Amino acid sequence: MSTDKHYQGLINKYREYLPVSDKTPVVTLNEGNTPLIKADNLAKKIGLDAEIYLKFEGSNPTGSFKDRGMTMAVSKAKEEGSNAIICASTGNTSAAAAAYGAKAGMKTFVLIPDGYIALGKLSQAMMYGANIIAINGNFDEALERVIDISKNYPITMVNSLNPYRIEGQKSGAFEIIEALGDAPDYHFIPVGNAGNITAYFKGYEEWLAINKSTHLPKMMGFEAEGAAAIVRGERIMHPETLATAIRIGNPASWEKAERARDLSGGVIDSVTDDEIVEAYKMIASTEGILCEPASAASVAGLIKSNKTKAVKEGSKIVCILTGNGLKDPDNAIKYALADVKKTSADINDILRAMNI
Ligand code: F0G
Repeated sequence: MSTDKHYQGLINKYREYLPVSDKTPVVTLNEGNTPLIKADNLAKKIGLDAEIYLKFEGSNPTGSFKDRGMTMAVSKAKEEGSNAIICASTGNTSAAAAAYGAKAGMKTFVLIPDGYIALGKLSQAMMYGANIIAINGNFDEALERVIDISKNYPITMVNSLNPYRIEGQKSGAFEIIEALGDAPDYHFIPVGNAGNITAYFKGYEEWLAINKSTHLPKMMGFEAEGAAAIVRGERIMHPETLATAIRIGNPASWEKAERARDLSGGVIDSVTDDEIVEAYKMIASTEGILCEPASAASVAGLIKSNKTKAVKEGSKIVCILTGNGLKDPDNAIKYALADVKKTSADINDILRAMNI
């Protein structure tokens, strides 16, 4: 282990809670340790007298929570002697796999649904040097192909079906418990392939078992309405939502998400695209945090739950903001509806435009 004092990523920090040994070659970009930001303006805006915290996973090195799982998955792949990784992705997993693959010196293959991933994510996979395969099909089909390929070729699958992904991602729950001194009362989270809700719940369960917390939070998972397979209880063949990150019709960790819901007394519900956009804009304008549309499903879920009085006043609430809004500038510009005033460089013109 290094004697450096500065933060060196979640494997070094939480080593004793992870399936690693001194022999594991740690591939890290110093992921994790993301800010938990108190959101009093948001609480006021939605009329809820409670402590709301936003965990901004967009501050991870590749701009999403996927880095937490990828540091584990790639380190373990390397330990096992693999020299190639593959994933299906709506964008963020591909960016993370490509970055950690580059850091590890491994060949990286990413399968993406052609035309349905945000521009920033595609540019990341390109720059990190992944082999990008854009299929004429959706995420669910891409994942099926990746499972097939990883069974038949010596290429390690790094989607969240890889258990090391979940191990890494559970560290988010540890950070929340450390920051708040206990688990929150409610944990709001977007649900796509359902790996992240599974991972957080595992983290909360493990730390409850060793008395680092006193209770489990109610796990409040939200799918996009056009991709709400778990809510509807059936696979959706053609999922649709503007939140492309969670445009998934057959979540791989479906049963585990239901288990988290049931054991914690939580819910898995859906939010509409309009509700997602409302939350997306509100988080930016009230709290100064730009997350991506899919991430805003957590806060959209909180707004919806508050309307039906499903959250108790005075409680502690954490909403996970899973990815950075800079990944998706097209949607930011489209929904901000900002009035950009153009003027000459003359100060009088500028002052007129400022309207002061
Ligand atoms: N939020 C963002 C920004 C995501 O990228 C994803 C999933 C989720 C939420 C949902 O998390 O799948 O664990 O339930 N993105 C995957 C990807 C599917 O390929 O990047 P989940």
